[in-house]
Amino acid sequence: MTELIADPDLLIDFRDVSLVRDGKTLVGPVNWQVELDERWVIIGPNGAGKTSLLRMAAAMDFPTRGEAFVVGERLGRTDVRELSTRIGMVSSAMAARVPGDELVSDLVISAGYSVLGRWREQYDEMDRAQAADILESMGAEHLADRTFGTLSEGERKRVLIARGLMTDPELLLLDEPAAGLDLGGREELVDRLSVLASDPDSPALVLITHHVEEIPPGFTNIMMLSEGAVTAQGPLDEALTAENLTATFRQNIALTRDDGRYFARRARRAGGHRRGE
Ligand SMILES: Nc1ncnc2c1ncn2[C@@H]1O[C@H](COP(=O)(O)OP(=O)(O)O)[C@@H](O)[C@H]1O
Ligand SMILES: [Mg+2]
Repeated sequence: MTELIADPDLLIDFRDVSLVRDGKTLVGPVNWQVELDERWVIIGPNGAGKTSLLRMAAAMDFPTRGEAFVVGERLGRTDVRELSTRIGMVSSAMAARVPGDELVSDLVISAGYSVLGRWREQYDEMDRAQAADILESMGAEHLADRTFGTLSEGERKRVLIARGLMTDPELLLLDEPAAGLDLGGREELVDRLSVLASDPDSPALVLITHHVEEIPPGFTNIMMLSEGAVTAQGPLDEALTAENLTATFRQNIALTRDDGRYFARRARRAGGHRRGE
């Protein structure tokens, strides 16, 4: 019989997990364990099932098959409203729901309360101080009195990450935070995420991206997905290879590493060498 006891050291523990909709397997089967000090990258082409996987990690969808534990709770057996303060989630779907006239400071401070469906007229001093600290850690303290609608894409992403951190979650899930950012915005975000990754007080992190250039130094592990299936999984140093990217993106990919960052492009031929080189 399968062991159905949560492992207290794992923030995510997926055992043969699949998500099926209308007879189609969106993702799975996935076996995936995330420890507190791990920072994971999930990479794969459009439609690979990355968001579907993250939605289960956020307890927003339950697995069709297999067993999933998130922050020590078994999905399907737990009141998920209780989990929402323990798991931070940043996605463009969520960003689209923020009213343009929402004040940045209110957006961050309300993270722990909005889930209860109520709005406190007054937050206490501790809440305000914590929100200011977290905004500062994201390089967004100067934005506190702006409205969300007036922010650049990059500023929005950093503010939403600050909101995700406000409840002091055990797990922070980021679905393509660098999508749509210009070069400067991307680099600013990569820097902030790198600092977050190297802070031992940070929650466990899972970051979805399409681009190896967006992997912040300090991230430790990677999962590659293609058409719902795991094509590679493991420590970044071992699993992030040209061979695995080639299998995942179904193109001959060359990979280079420089100063803790990764760069990928299509190789002209296997091994990345041109004729005559
Ligand atoms: N609720 C749903 N019902 C049916 N199909 C879905 C649903 N959500 C996503 N899909 C499909 O599942 C596949 C994986 O989607 P998704 O997890 O969003 O991929 P990714 O985030 O890697 O781009 C896609 O083919 C998508 O069209
Ligand atoms: Mg997606």
